[in-house]
Amino acid sequence: MRSLAPQVRQARSTDAAAIARVQVLSWQQAYRDILPPSFLQGLDAERSAESWRVVVADPRRITFVLEAPDLVGFCTAGPARGSEAAGHRGEVEAIYVHPAEQRHGFGTSLIGAAMEWLAEAELQPVVVWALEANQPAHRFYERLGARQVDRRLLRIADALYPELAFSWPVGALIGG
Ligand SMILES: CC(C)(COP(=O)(O)OP(=O)(O)OC[C@H]1O[C@@H](n2cnc3c(N)ncnc32)[C@H](O)[C@@H]1OP(=O)(O)O)[C@@H](O)C(=O)NCCC(=O)NCCS
Repeated sequence: MRSLAPQVRQARSTDAAAIARVQVLSWQQAYRDILPPSFLQGLDAERSAESWRVVVADPRRITFVLEAPDLVGFCTAGPARGSEAAGHRGEVEAIYVHPAEQRHGFGTSLIGAAMEWLAEAELQPVVVWALEANQPAHRFYERLGARQVDRRLLRIADALYPELAFSWPVGALIGG
């Protein structure tokens, strides 16, 4: 029988479609005043599910999903990418919670699982990048103990958007 309590577990390839749906809805809500409407309307969960199948199967990274009881959020982590924010070994690559399910502690549970995995894999310090205009995400990361360390420009849909890096030191864990 399926538990009704919110549960975090490692993603399976069969979760790819649900992950992609949450990502598209969450992007459309979080970036509605930041990215062009045509870009957000053009996001395609079916196409994105193909990419998520690849990410979920990648042995160097991990994706956790949260079921409550449907899949309402996910978080992907792995070795740090890119040359900015030098000195970081691990990265939270993505964290998204369904717009209707935010502020219930699900994001905290997901990032807590990712931070534990990164610590065990000795992939710390940890960096996460957020668009400079995505203030709610900054509040979330700062509330969880991260501090802003860097800035860069990210190309999305033929335009450049500033992004900020937030960092957790070696030994940082979140929650339990
Ligand atoms: C950012 C996100 C992952 C947080 O997940 P969540 O489940 O809503 O977060 P939690 O409920 O665990 O929040 C923990 C704390 O972070 C802070 N926080 C979270 N969302 C916040 C918001 N929108 N505004 C201000 N503070 C916020 C609060 O202090 C919150 O505690 P509180 O609710 O008791 O006040 C989620 O809101 C989301 O998916 N946003 C859209 C996508 C996104 O921006 N992803 C990050 C891309 S870099």
